[in-house]
Amino acid sequence: MKATAIALENARLKASWDCFSAGHLAVYLAAGAEDQRINACSILTRALLIDTLWPRRFDALIEEELRFGVVMTWLFEQVRAGASRMALLDELHGGRRGARVPAVVRQAAAWLRTDACPLPDYVTDALLFRTADRPEEVLFEPALNTFAQRWSAQLAGLQAAPLTVLEIACGSGNEYLALRDFGLAAHLTYAGFDISWKNIENARCAHPGVNFFEASVLNSGLPDNACDVVFLHDLLGHLSPEALERALQEIMRIARKEAWLHCFNAADIPRHQIRPVGLYHRNRLSIAQLAASLSQTGAAVEAIPIPALLRRKFHFVQPYSASAVTFIARKTASASRRRQRRRNARSL
Ligand SMILES: C[S@@+](CC[C@H](N)C(=O)[O-])C[C@H]1O[C@@H](n2cnc3c(N)ncnc32)[C@H](O)[C@@H]1O
Repeated sequence: MKATAIALENARLKASWDCFSAGHLAVYLAAGAEDQRINACSILTRALLIDTLWPRRFDALIEEELRFGVVMTWLFEQVRAGASRMALLDELHGGRRGARVPAVVRQAAAWLRTDACPLPDYVTDALLFRTADRPEEVLFEPALNTFAQRWSAQLAGLQAAPLTVLEIACGSGNEYLALRDFGLAAHLTYAGFDISWKNIENARCAHPGVNFFEASVLNSGLPDNACDVVFLHDLLGHLSPEALERALQEIMRIARKEAWLHCFNAADIPRHQIRPVGLYHRNRLSIAQLAASLSQTGAAVEAIPIPALLRRKFHFVQPYSASAVTFIARKTASASRRRQRRRNARSL
């Protein structure tokens, strides 16, 4: 991609987010199904970090948190759509057997009320209690914080090998807020960048002292292997086809070990469906095509369709996650050698 084309794409992307107020950018991706405490992809990012720091040690708790995400998202959507909290509680506590409650929610609610369950009864808490002076609250905040508390307690005092993590398109720092509140940030060296200066101002203001900076994935200027792990949420579908290829190459150049790429709208289709909207794109990405592009960088690629993951574990998928796919790209030794040979050849 030529420098002029990169500059033009950057200008379009920047304008697409900087046109919103800082206040809107700070909150629009941190509520409801996108709340990082219950969103499946956000939980997956934290799970991947935890599993990288302490391999296989927390599999059971990760599974419970994924279930928590599914259950709380379903409750949130019901209440927001007008369902009565008390009617839901009544139904879940066995008073009435309505057909609308998915088995995963019904079973979790029953299990949480048993003495054997090590978790607080987040379902009852979420529906029964209200925070004073917060009429807009859909589910009780402390219930939403169940796993933040759990993880903070589990991870406090643990030791782990150093891990440098870069979040691309970090927005206003909402994923970082969760990393902090779940006790994970203390075990990482984190940096985040975004193309929108308003997002970066928000992130710096909310998290003073954390390394947030303005940059584009297309030409960040970061060195090769700048960090161990790169992750991003919901950027790739907004790029033009040329910029998408450039971004994937840049991501795999910057990552030393792995990249975790969460895409909001991807499917089993042969080619990307390119949909320009205003100055940017809202594309439907092809799982096979994106995996092939990542493989061409020399990475070993695994695509995890979130609906399949949730269906396998909980036999239930929310509409919000229906098109979400996470790509895990592992840098291989041969890819690094190939890159090094190209660099050597260029310097001859
Ligand atoms: C859909 S939002 C997702 C934000 C955040 N990752 C989240 O999930 O909450 C897309 C983000 O990508 C940023 N962005 C767009 N183009 C970018 C680029 N070329 N490089 C870095 N960030 C970019 C936008 O400013 C915006 O914050």
